[in-house]
Amino acid sequence: MARDASHEPAYKADSLIAEDIDAYLEQHQNKGLLRFITCGSVDDGKSTLIGRLLYDSKMIFEDQLASLEADSKKVGTQGQDLDFALLVDGLAAEREQGITIDVAYRFFATQKRKFIVADTPGHEQYTRNMVTGASTADLAVILVDARKGVLVQTRRHSYLAHLIGIRHLVLAVNKMDLVDYDRETFESIVADYRAFAEQIGIEDFTAIPISGFKGDNITAAPSPATPWYDGPSLIDHLETVEIANTAAQARSFAMPVQWVNRPNLDFRGFSGLIAGGTVKPGDPVRIVPSGKTSTIKSIVTFDGEWDEAVAGQSVTLTLEDEVDCSRGDVIAAAEDPPEASDQFEATIVWMNDEALKPGRGYWLKLGTQTVTATVQEPKYEINVNTLEQLAAKSLTLNAIGVAELRTDRPIVFEPYADSRALGGFILIDKITNATVGAGMLHFSLRRAQNVHWQPTTITREDHAAMKNQRPRVLWFTGLSGSGKSTIANAVEQKLNLMNRHTFLLDGDNVRHGLNRDLGFTEADRIENIRRVGEVAKLMTDAGLIVLTAFISPFRAERQMVRAMIDECEFIEIFVDTPLEVAEARDVKGLYKKARSGQLKNFTGIDSPYEEPEAPEIRVNTVEMTVEEAADYIVSRILPLK
Ligand code: ADX
Repeated sequence: MARDASHEPAYKADSLIAEDIDAYLEQHQNKGLLRFITCGSVDDGKSTLIGRLLYDSKMIFEDQLASLEADSKKVGTQGQDLDFALLVDGLAAEREQGITIDVAYRFFATQKRKFIVADTPGHEQYTRNMVTGASTADLAVILVDARKGVLVQTRRHSYLAHLIGIRHLVLAVNKMDLVDYDRETFESIVADYRAFAEQIGIEDFTAIPISGFKGDNITAAPSPATPWYDGPSLIDHLETVEIANTAAQARSFAMPVQWVNRPNLDFRGFSGLIAGGTVKPGDPVRIVPSGKTSTIKSIVTFDGEWDEAVAGQSVTLTLEDEVDCSRGDVIAAAEDPPEASDQFEATIVWMNDEALKPGRGYWLKLGTQTVTATVQEPKYEINVNTLEQLAAKSLTLNAIGVAELRTDRPIVFEPYADSRALGGFILIDKITNATVGAGMLHFSLRRAQNVHWQPTTITREDHAAMKNQRPRVLWFTGLSGSGKSTIANAVEQKLNLMNRHTFLLDGDNVRHGLNRDLGFTEADRIENIRRVGEVAKLMTDAGLIVLTAFISPFRAERQMVRAMIDECEFIEIFVDTPLEVAEARDVKGLYKKARSGQLKNFTGIDSPYEEPEAPEIRVNTVEMTVEEAADYIVSRILPLK
């Protein structure tokens, strides 16, 4: 097809899809920036729309345009209409699936503004990407297919966008060409959407009838196909909508420290992105959580020193005093610093195939801070369609719920409603390193501040010295019937003969008392191990050598106990008995019951066992007798003092 001259890229330097964000933003420095996201269902035509925005703002590299034309021919696009989806759905794999699977950031600019658009996939599974893309956006374009109207996804995305704090919404009713630009169709969709929007507290939105494919009402000129519509075109609206820098206005100055810049002994600066407020040399500041105070000496940037910096800018601050301050700390206005806490209520969006495990430790990243967090059983889950609060034991993929969480040390935060930067966090699985959830802190549960650690006069060293031994935890793990209890029992006897002070915590026994409220769901097993870990830790404080015999099937919780106890005091002993052998022994007849379906969630049958990867000691009960295994273990833990 012959290229229309007006579609020739006007200025190559502006061309994108820019790899180098900074360089690109640099060129358009003086224009205002609008960050927005587009969201819609799989077939709503999102990619086509973004392609059209880029194309019509003449921001496509010539070579990209050429390949776009070639691609369009390959997939048999008819006539003059380029298939813009092909440009945006850059990856072949995505194209084959017909859905976009990751957030792609695109850059473009018009005469009035520059834009960063996060293209987030519409498939319900990919809520994660939507949340990621939305977390920095000022505006969301919610796409609706004119033939289908408001769908589950439309509600879901609007709800999420609102939850994330986006206050500007555009309802783009797309594919108007396929409903003959019918006014009534448009108006009835807008009315439908308004009813839902009001329910979730969306105060205002702008509805625009468009066709991404044909280009109606996308760029400045009003489309002759919709004479009944007198509102702005999409670009018009994006160029003129007023976006306040709410972070700068909403709160006093706060900057999480990203790194300490110390090129030589004469200079020590703290670099980071200002999360809120403004800062000037001479301002009194407080470092949180330590509470130390100082005064801003200078604001250093690549362009020299500044007299003032505001939220959204990356700067290096120097202070008048030599105060302790490192990555993860927050430098804040002295008279209004953010709080630090270790217990919170939060909204959590779960983004992983594997459900949230209440009680399990996840990495929580909030700005530059990383801590371990455990989430309690949710208070409720939100049904995005009906907005009902449902009872929930966990959160599964795409679920949104409210729960309490606690962190292993205090973090500096602000409620999300006041600061996205200091109130938004993600949760990361410690073993797979996958991002499994995102969340927004509501408020701190003040309980934490009122419980203090009481120092005692007789220390754990005193207890150990009195018993003339080094405290230890011998953590036996293995399948039911693997021989944990029997071997642990034999080891304890041997230690006893050696005059050692020991205590054996056994799964079956502890479940009769301390843990009699727990069953065998994943959450209960996690809590079982957490409690046993705490008890074992107390017993080592009392100077004892503690033996524990629990299946403890999950790596994450064994690791959690390991982290709780002094590194050299924790000894993981894997009683390595193959399932077939344990099942053939079936001492308690439980495998038989599990196989016949009378017993649910049985380890090795319908509940997993994750083998230790690097246990300190491994005993193979097929090759060794109980006596041999016990002797071997004792020999490996010597000396005992
Ligand atoms: S753990 O998984 O939470 O570590 P724990 O060691 O306390 O388990 O308890 C395991 C013992 O409980 C088994 O040895 C067995 O006697 C009994 N038991 C009863 N039901 C189950 C089950 N569904 N899965 C495993 N063990 C069970």
